[in-house]
Amino acid sequence: MSGALDGRVALVTGGGRGIGRAIVELLHAQGAAVVIADLGTAIDGSGGDPGVAQSLAQGLGERAAAFTESIASPSAAAAAVALAVERFGGLDIVVNNAAIIRDGFIFKADPLAWDAVIRTNLSAPFHILAAATPVMREQTKALRGGTPYSWGTPAPRPGCSASPASSRWTCSAASSPATRSRPSPRRASPNRSSRRTRRRRATRSGR
Ligand SMILES: NC(=O)c1ccc[n+]([C@@H]2O[C@H](COP(=O)([O-])OP(=O)(O)OC[C@H]3O[C@@H](n4cnc5c(N)ncnc54)[C@H](O)[C@@H]3O)[C@@H](O)[C@H]2O)c1
Repeated sequence: MSGALDGRVALVTGGGRGIGRAIVELLHAQGAAVVIADLGTAIDGSGGDPGVAQSLAQGLGERAAAFTESIASPSAAAAAVALAVERFGGLDIVVNNAAIIRDGFIFKADPLAWDAVIRTNLSAPFHILAAATPVMREQTKALRGGTPYSWGTPAPRPGCSASPASSRWTCSAASSPATRSRPSPRRASPNRSSRRTRRRRATRSGR
């Protein structure tokens, strides 16, 4: 396989259906391993069907895993992130896609419906990112390693050895996945200034 996301690990909430499912399939087709966090609830957040995420994960094969609890709690969000780390060796991409809808006029709305929507649509992304960012930060620090990091050469990664020829890591099973490619660098051009800076300069020079 040689996709743009080979060796990357993604977590997609609400990844079992609709837009989330399309995101999962795209990430997977590009080479990423994907945790599909979806409890298979109805659009209003009622009920649940673990088969939604499980059947998608099964169909995608080894590089997919299902997480079927609601992600709307700190402990479940942490468990979803832990699944990504345990199964695939890290976490590089988070897509906070899961959401529910409880339509209603505010003067008729049930405050419990408001709480449920806020919990899923707003608090869950917070919990997911609160659990995911420490993993991502550690990965970034490990990438910097103890040796100078330079674009174009493979960076050190715990449990992995790098091939200078291919800019790829080969990782031990414990630090799976089998290979993790390094991020493609965003190059900053010294001659390039932002649109805002150019506008500011033009204003100053009276143009
Ligand atoms: N479909 C649209 O027209 C549209 C328009 C604008 C924005 N969006 C947004 O795009 C996203 C996806 O929309 P969609 O139409 O594909 O939704 P969908 O209802 O088809 O799928 C959402 C998935 O999220 C899962 N989910 C809900 N709560 C969850 C929870 N607590 N834990 C885990 N999984 C949970 C559900 O089980 C479901 O499979 C949502 O954030 C939605 O607000 C959709």
